[in-house]
Amino acid sequence: MADPFYITTAIAYPNGKPHIGHAYEAIAADVIARHQRSEGRNVRFQTGTDEHGLKMAQKARDLGITPRALCDEMSGHFRSMCDALNISYDVFQRTTDEAHYKASQAIWQAMEANGDLYLDRYEGWYSVRDEAFYDESELVAGEGGEKLSPQGTPVEWTVEESWFFRLSAYQEPLLAHYAANPDFISPESRRNEVVKFVEGGLRDLSISRTSFDWGVPVPGSPGHVMYVWVDALTNYLTGLGYPEKTPEMETWWPADIHLIGKDIVRFHTVYWPAFLMSARLALPRQVFGHGFLLHRGEKMSKSLGNVVDPLELAETFGVDSLRYFLMREVSFGHDGSYSAEAIVTRCNAELANSFGNLAQRSLSMIFKNMGGILKADLPVSEADEALLGTVAESIAAMREAFTALDFSAGLDAWMRGVFACNAYVDEQAPWALRKTDPARMEAVLMTLLRVTRDLALAVRPVVPTAIDRLLDQMGIVAEARDYAALADKNWLADLATKGFTLSQPAGVFPRLEALVGGEG
Ligand code: MSP
Repeated sequence: MADPFYITTAIAYPNGKPHIGHAYEAIAADVIARHQRSEGRNVRFQTGTDEHGLKMAQKARDLGITPRALCDEMSGHFRSMCDALNISYDVFQRTTDEAHYKASQAIWQAMEANGDLYLDRYEGWYSVRDEAFYDESELVAGEGGEKLSPQGTPVEWTVEESWFFRLSAYQEPLLAHYAANPDFISPESRRNEVVKFVEGGLRDLSISRTSFDWGVPVPGSPGHVMYVWVDALTNYLTGLGYPEKTPEMETWWPADIHLIGKDIVRFHTVYWPAFLMSARLALPRQVFGHGFLLHRGEKMSKSLGNVVDPLELAETFGVDSLRYFLMREVSFGHDGSYSAEAIVTRCNAELANSFGNLAQRSLSMIFKNMGGILKADLPVSEADEALLGTVAESIAAMREAFTALDFSAGLDAWMRGVFACNAYVDEQAPWALRKTDPARMEAVLMTLLRVTRDLALAVRPVVPTAIDRLLDQMGIVAEARDYAALADKNWLADLATKGFTLSQPAGVFPRLEALVGGEG
């Protein structure tokens, strides 16, 4: 298949169960993957879990279990979350897999062969929660005057023998790469931050630890395990079979997009490209740092008691509703807020009352007034042509916005198409035509069938389950559900010729009820 497209999410630390922020990233990546598949691209989609490092080791110690047992249990929760949310990943990569050790050691050796690694002593600040080293100058003062990382997490003074990566040597090559590839770091605000940071000068990076052993062993250096970010970033290669020259590596590397949150942009746009340059591997085409999801505008935290289990939300409102809400409500790249009421309001207005109602009304009238029989060769009026044109334009705008990762604008464009259809139904009033001009009624209903199908195909990457149920009812076969089908002008004639008839339709976007008791 032509035109490969490789997308990855960050791999989460499975030191607890997944929260809505993890779900948000997985859903956004899934929408991108499904959109690109609909565009005809040969998509590879990888996600997974990041299982090494001090954070995991400490959590396991607190629980009195082995790190391996913690990883096995918690990684399973992340995988189940993906399955429950209909995330169409091809590979779920765990960093405790044997193959991942091999890949991480191979990239290490490639960097070593390039002369970029040396042994020295690390003295500096480390945040276990961020799994990050910080310069003194980056620290901020906490309420009690204690030193905190720029992310507000505790830091500890660390002194140990360590391998270093010659990051300083990559300052100029990185700046040159950013300049030559303006889309490498997106959105632009994040790009500016990174450029400023790199222009400020880069210090060599400590990339191994000796004070604990929960990590990938450094080849040929007993007592050292790799700094967790070295192995974590390598996961993007492991899933393709690196270091072997596999067909997967040939087809999908470099990645088209690493989708990650704004807090880990530096690791992906400074360290990772430097490691790749050192190992003589191609750099990903784009790193996109999405915003954070806040609960009613506030950061989620265990102490505030507002950490929401995404599976509970999906159970309450439905997976498709949650997916639609997140992609529609949050301007992609910015922080966004969610609450139960906001989900209900948005989904009821747009999915249930606008598109759902359009589909349900149209199919029911065809079922009741035409016996479910489809007719392809009815005369088309100016109003019909105008509606078909408006819907086609709205879908074209949506596809373009989705390719540019502007999902809220894309869904806005889609809604313009839906509104035009509802205005058309009201103007044409097919229920009144039934008595006065039944032939015209049939033409109106067939126009509605066409636009409903087109709008359904367009929004399918966002709400795949509901749309597939709708398309099943419409007799649209699985192979004709991508965007290429939008260009097929004969589908209705083909269905009619096959003798397909509509049965009594069932609604696919139920109205949601607000939660009793104001929870969430
Ligand atoms: N393990 C590292 C990533 C390694 S990638 C080679 C990590 N894990 S994490 O579990 O802390 O975060 C996983 C992803 O979830 C990150 O992209 C992070 O930005 C994202 N999010 C964590 N909390 C979030 C929100 N509240 N909202 C949106 N995304 C959030 O970082």
